[in-house]
Amino acid sequence: MNYLEVAEKTAREAGVVLLENLGKVKKIEFKAKNSLVTEVDKLSEEIIINNIKKSFPSHDIFAEESGRHSENSDYLWLIDPIDGTTNYAHAYPFFSISIALEVKGEVEIGLVYDPVKDEMFTAEAGKGAYLNGELIKVSKSDSIEHSHVCTGFMHEIEWMVEANIKHFGNFIRRARAVRRDGSAALDVCYVACGRFDGFWELGLNPWDTAAAVLILKEAGGQVTTFSGDEYSIYIKEILASNSIIHGQMMEILALEG
Ligand code: IPD
Ligand code: CA
Ligand code: CA
Repeated sequence: MNYLEVAEKTAREAGVVLLENLGKVKKIEFKAKNSLVTEVDKLSEEIIINNIKKSFPSHDIFAEESGRHSENSDYLWLIDPIDGTTNYAHAYPFFSISIALEVKGEVEIGLVYDPVKDEMFTAEAGKGAYLNGELIKVSKSDSIEHSHVCTGFMHEIEWMVEANIKHFGNFIRRARAVRRDGSAALDVCYVACGRFDGFWELGLNPWDTAAAVLILKEAGGQVTTFSGDEYSIYIKEILASNSIIHGQMMEILALEG
């Protein structure tokens, strides 16, 4: 099996476990005030890591719940075993599994799986983006007034919450609608397939965005910082769009009040 096939197989296996346990979470722990982790996050991560290690024992792994497993390899798997844990813990059916493979610092493979809708978003660098095997493209929306956009709030850093409340207000006065769906990986994939026209958030981690950003780029989207600088999964600011409304979103993110 190739890299993507292994990722798909393990995502489906973990997805079954997520569905079986949906609405039955027994234990919620807190990494910070609103940063939850359940026993299902840990179980899902274990399944994914075991499968990847079985197929590629020399590769490195960087997973949200267990951190870095280093073999000093050029190959690094970035794993979010449940993106949208708060939704999951409340049995709100919007969450995903995110798996990406970085090779020498470049993300080459990305997969985001929504087990509830059985939707598998995938991309390999240079080969386009797919939803359940069908090629996907970003939307053609060309004005913020006609756009459906999304954001997320990370809760641990106070200034980021305050800054994003300001941005949220500025978008809600201008866009057709603003959503806060609660799984950044899935939110960005929704931009990739045209369900959203744009997305922004502060404070995300590499395992949240690595897979989805590749999928979005391969679908023709654009990803930068709020001010248009080059994006990296290791920085804490993301603006993702269909590329046509990117400039308009940057202008709104630059507004003071
Ligand atoms: C969270 C989700 C959420 C975003 C948070 C992330 P988690 O990931 O992606 O949409 O707003 O910033 O931390 O904790 O559920 O894996
Ligand atoms: Ca996450
Ligand atoms: Ca997570």
